Amino acid sequence: MEITIEKTTSPKTKPDQNALGFGKYFTDHMFIMDYEKNIGWHNAKIIPYQPIPLDPATAVFHYGQAIFEGLKAYRTDDNRILLFRPSKNMERINITNQRMCMPDVDVDFCVNAIKEIVRIDQDWIPSAPGTALYIRPFIIATDPYLGVRASQTYKFMIILSPVGAYYPQGMNPVNIYVEPDYVRAVRGGTGDAKTCGNYAASLKAQERAAEKGYVQVLWLDGVEKKYIEEVGSMNVFFKINGEIITPALGGSILPGITRASVIHLLKAWGLTVTERKISMDELYQAYQSGILEEAFGTGTAAVISPIGELSWNGENIELGKEVGELAKKVYDTITGIQTGKVEDAFGWIVEV
Ligand code: COI
Repeated sequence: MEITIEKTTSPKTKPDQNALGFGKYFTDHMFIMDYEKNIGWHNAKIIPYQPIPLDPATAVFHYGQAIFEGLKAYRTDDNRILLFRPSKNMERINITNQRMCMPDVDVDFCVNAIKEIVRIDQDWIPSAPGTALYIRPFIIATDPYLGVRASQTYKFMIILSPVGAYYPQGMNPVNIYVEPDYVRAVRGGTGDAKTCGNYAASLKAQERAAEKGYVQVLWLDGVEKKYIEEVGSMNVFFKINGEIITPALGGSILPGITRASVIHLLKAWGLTVTERKISMDELYQAYQSGILEEAFGTGTAAVISPIGELSWNGENIELGKEVGELAKKVYDTITGIQTGKVEDAFGWIVEV
């Protein structure tokens, strides 16, 4: 399928690279294509960034059939543009599509569409340290119909946003509230799919944690409220007595691409990485015995977010205000590979 291109005639003023924040600014263009049951995906185009008119009865507004992905483009010192494992995002979008009764997309076509739009808006890729061009592919159900069923029409779009750090704290350790009541997902639900409803369902706990003075929540499993699942919108890793432990993907945890990359990297460094269930009791005991060395979240947006403190059932797990040695090494290596400063030993980089 060919992508038709219509360039903007009124480019926007670009924001200050040193005050980007996350997801506040959008580039000059967007990618859009349509799906109809009998035709498949068609009408692929890159057009000036603009609102999309939708009927108030559009399915996505009512029953939440909506999914997304997130990845980044980076500019290297020698002015090349790099993507980090873009096929992994497009493979995952199809896993999410299947869970949400939405149509598959062609992985290679979509990676090419990403490259094409990034190329067109390449002047928007920031180069200041810690910045990138965040790429947000997403799909919404567009049938104007109020019956509860999978839509027969969809729109796939890609928008781009120059970003700095996801958390205002940047790479500094954050304090986390272990959420005792609300849960993010249960096995059999949609926790392992990147569907928008998961994020809507997380807001209440996030607000409550913020009111208590915490930056993020740590999610426990939805059945026993005992085992650790995720932290905020990130996967989580602990270093206990030299071993690195991350919760196993059991159906309710999002299979993060940064998570998979961190596991790969740690193993390549010869470290022991175990994917298994880990409870708060076990974590607290490790802390009390002085063998809990580090904890950090991993995700596309923040890359690595060190945990400085965990509040659980009135107990405090203090990990300190300094970024842990392992978190720092992982952050430097992954961001180094992403920005072309560290050799891409695993073939993760795709040049635009
Ligand atoms: C990520 O960590 O990349 C996420 O998925 C967070 C995103 C919702 C901004």
